[in-house]
Amino acid sequence: MEIVMSESSPSQAPALESEYHLQVYRRLPLVPARGSGARIWDSNGREYIDALAGIAVLNVGHCHPHVVAAIQRQAAQLTHISNFFVTEAQAQLARRLCELSGLDRVFFNNSGAEANEGAFKLARNWYHSKRGGSPRGGVIVSMEGCFHGRTLATIAAGKDLYQQGFEPIPSGYRRIPFNDVAALDRAVDGDTAAVIIEPIQGEGGVTAATPEFMQAARQICSDRGAALIFDEVQCGMGRTGTMFAFEQYGVRPDILSLAKGLGGGVPIGATLVSQDIADALPKGRHGTTFGGNPLACAAALATIEVIEDEDLLDRASELGDYLVEKLEAAREHQTSIKEIRGLGLMRGVVLDFEGAGVVRRMLDKGVISNCTALNVMRLIPPLVISKRDLDTVISIMLQAIAEEKEALKNQA
Ligand SMILES: Cc1ncc(COP(=O)(O)O)c(C=O)c1O
Repeated sequence: MEIVMSESSPSQAPALESEYHLQVYRRLPLVPARGSGARIWDSNGREYIDALAGIAVLNVGHCHPHVVAAIQRQAAQLTHISNFFVTEAQAQLARRLCELSGLDRVFFNNSGAEANEGAFKLARNWYHSKRGGSPRGGVIVSMEGCFHGRTLATIAAGKDLYQQGFEPIPSGYRRIPFNDVAALDRAVDGDTAAVIIEPIQGEGGVTAATPEFMQAARQICSDRGAALIFDEVQCGMGRTGTMFAFEQYGVRPDILSLAKGLGGGVPIGATLVSQDIADALPKGRHGTTFGGNPLACAAALATIEVIEDEDLLDRASELGDYLVEKLEAAREHQTSIKEIRGLGLMRGVVLDFEGAGVVRRMLDKGVISNCTALNVMRLIPPLVISKRDLDTVISIMLQAIAEEKEALKNQA
């Protein structure tokens, strides 16, 4: 069968997708064919600025030459071998991530959800090793508005909507309001294995944890013997201007989940953990076929090198500040923008109306964007985006907001 990928002929992909793929995604109406930096081109050759970055995955941009070279090199040597063996790439990446995070050990997996599943298993195993397997114990406390993935354990920690139709939902999860120190204080007791927090909630509307909440969470978990898990699947790997968002709070977790930006576009997840929690898990109790395979680890090592060599942490902070400055100035005449949230290049622009129409209008004008929590425009472009492209994203978003607002007014 011939695979049609020419940039000039119309793509068959949408028709094939609607016939053969599980219909779970609301797809945008273009077929990406190629990417470079913060730009992509669709199957018709139309160019777009990508302010979504594969949902905060392409922190170093599309097809960064250093990452591409590392993937090509590794693909020609050894793509997969299984965890019956250690490989050079996996061992080097493990050391690098422990050095960067200050945690002691890492377990590699393939996605954000798996990184969190690993975190829950590590925390529960540690809890039971201390408490002798209490049947009621092992509770994971999570936050309203959180998102930790789509596996059964991660939806159990998340919002009700994503649980619907998948009952019975695993037990042993309790949700509390985000940033509510008193609720956390009440929720964490002798039955609690862990508290899981996204330092900045992504799907939940780009909402940052308050420093008071993070500090209280650290204190409460330490005092009561619960593991503190930070899910930095979305906000980690330089996105907020530090390698990990927790650095900006001065609070280190016991377990850290990473994925998305870690592999420069290649699927990889990682669960990092402190020594005492790691020590409680015997050999053979957790594992994976693909996790930490040499291809993914080589891509991740190269991605970290790019973040460091190109000073992308400073760049994320500077561009993030610039973005906020420009949007704050725009608020003087655009009253539909209620608030600007986030850190670094993970920003939410809160509108006083639902943003789906803004996303469509921006796409028509050549910018790929996203709206989350119904009314929060989420800007998570590659950290390598040029100032010029960022200016274009901002001006097109402002135009789209104004047009959509006008259209909604006319409909009313
Ligand atoms: C904070 C957070 N955790 C976990 C996940 C799940 O990651 P994945 O889709 O790779 O399973 C996501 C995905 O958006 C996320 O934003």
